[in-house]
Amino acid sequence: MGVCLSIQIKAESSPCNAGFNSNYVSTDGNDLSTTSSKPSSVSVPQTPRSEGEILESSNLRSFSMAELKMATRNFRPDSVLGEGGFGSVYKGWIDEHSLAAAKPGTGIVVAVKRLNQDGLQGHKEWLAEVNYLGLLSHPHLVKLIGYCFEDEHRLLVYEFMPRGSLENHLFRRGSYFQPLSWSLRMKVALGAAKGLAFLHSAETKVIYRDFKTSNILLDSNYNAKLSDFGLAKDGPTGDKSHVSTRVMGTYGYAAPEYLATGHLTAKSDVYSFGVVMLEMLSGRRAIDKNQPSGQHNLVEWAKPYLANKRKIFRVLDNRLEGQRSVEDAYKVATLAMRCLSTESKFRPNMDEVVTALERLQIPINVNGGVNQSPFDNVSRARRRSADDTCKGRTTPPFARPSASPLCA
Ligand SMILES: Nc1ncnc2c1ncn2[C@@H]1O[C@H](COP(=O)(O)OP(=O)(O)O)[C@@H](O)[C@H]1O
Ligand SMILES: [Mg+2]
Repeated sequence: MGVCLSIQIKAESSPCNAGFNSNYVSTDGNDLSTTSSKPSSVSVPQTPRSEGEILESSNLRSFSMAELKMATRNFRPDSVLGEGGFGSVYKGWIDEHSLAAAKPGTGIVVAVKRLNQDGLQGHKEWLAEVNYLGLLSHPHLVKLIGYCFEDEHRLLVYEFMPRGSLENHLFRRGSYFQPLSWSLRMKVALGAAKGLAFLHSAETKVIYRDFKTSNILLDSNYNAKLSDFGLAKDGPTGDKSHVSTRVMGTYGYAAPEYLATGHLTAKSDVYSFGVVMLEMLSGRRAIDKNQPSGQHNLVEWAKPYLANKRKIFRVLDNRLEGQRSVEDAYKVATLAMRCLSTESKFRPNMDEVVTALERLQIPINVNGGVNQSPFDNVSRARRRSADDTCKGRTTPPFARPSASPLCA
C-alpha cells in the first residue's frame, strides 16, 4: 500500500451551483446539532445531539496525542497509508487487550487518521465519524476503535485494512497492486452494496454521501468495508422525502438532482454506487482529464455503450479480457445504468442491488481463498476458446471483437 496520489480539494459550493470544478465539494458540515431526530430503533440508539453525548455514548476509547504519537512512531512519513480530504492516515500499533499504544511491530495494527486542517469543517467531519462509526457496527463498515480530542488535535483510530482502498487496486499501476479479477470486483461490489444497504435500512436510515472508491477499504480477503463517515447524515424522517443540505461530496460521484437542488436522499448514494460500478467495469476513474476529449466524464461517455450488448466491450476494462461472459458484463452494466438513472425514482434501492449482485457472484478460487493471480482465468478462458464455438457456448468470455467475436 502506498500514498494515495489524488489530493482532494475542498471548495465551497451552493445548491444550483453545478459549475464547480474541484474534485471535492464541501460546504455545510454535518449539522449534527440541528438534524431532525433519529428514528427510534433497537440497533441504532437515537443520535446524541451534543458533542459531549456523542463522545460519551460512543463506546470508543479516548486516546491521548502522546499515545498516538508513540503508536505511529511520531507519525512517520513512511508509515502513511493514505491521504484524503481530511488528512493523512498512518499505520500504528496498539495492545490488543488494553488498547494502549504498543511498541511498533507488537500488538495489533491500526490505522490512525489525523486531521491536517484547522477549522470547524474538519471538526464536524471528525465528530460525524465518531457519531456514526461509534454507534454502527456491521461486517461491511470499518470498525472505529477510538479517537483523540485534545487541544486542536483531532484523530481517529480504526481497524487496519490490509489491502487498502479499492481506488488503489483499480487505478494504481505497479507490482503491488495487481489488477482486480472480475470475481473479486463482484465480491467487492457486493460487500460495499451490503454496507450501503445496511446504512439505508429502516433501522439505521443514514445517508453516506461520499461513496467512492477511496472510501471502500479491503481486508485481507477482499471483504469491502465502508470508511470515512465524515459526510454521513441522518436520512429524512417522518413523511419528509429528503434532507435539505448544501452540496457536499466528490465531483463525478454526486447525483445530478443533489447537485442541482441540495435535496439529499438514499437514492443519491445509489447513484454514486452506479458510478463506482462503472469504474469497476471500465477500470477508468469517474473523472479523468487524461482521457481523450469527450471521455473525461465516465458516466457521460459510457452510457451510450452500456445499453447495447454489442457495444459494451468498448467500456470494459481490457485487463479483464476473457475473464467473464458478455452476459455477466451486460447484467452488471444494466444494473449500473439503473443506478445512474437521471430520475432518482427509477434507481433501485440498495436491497435490490444486493440481490442482483448476489446472483453475479462466482467462486473465487479452488482453495476457498482469493484468486491472487487474476489472469489465471484469462489463460484458462483462452485455452477453452480454442475449441469453443459460438453455437455451443451460451456465455462467451468478453473480448474485443478482433480477439473473440461476440456470439450473444
Ligand atoms: N483503516 C484503514 N486501513 C488502511 N488504510 C486506510 C484506512 N483508513 C484509511 N486508509 C487509507 O487512507 C485513505 C484516506 O482515508 P479516508 O478515511 O478516506 O480519509 P479522508 O477522510 O481524509 O478522505 C484511504 O483511501 C485509504 O487508502
Ligand atoms: Mg476519504
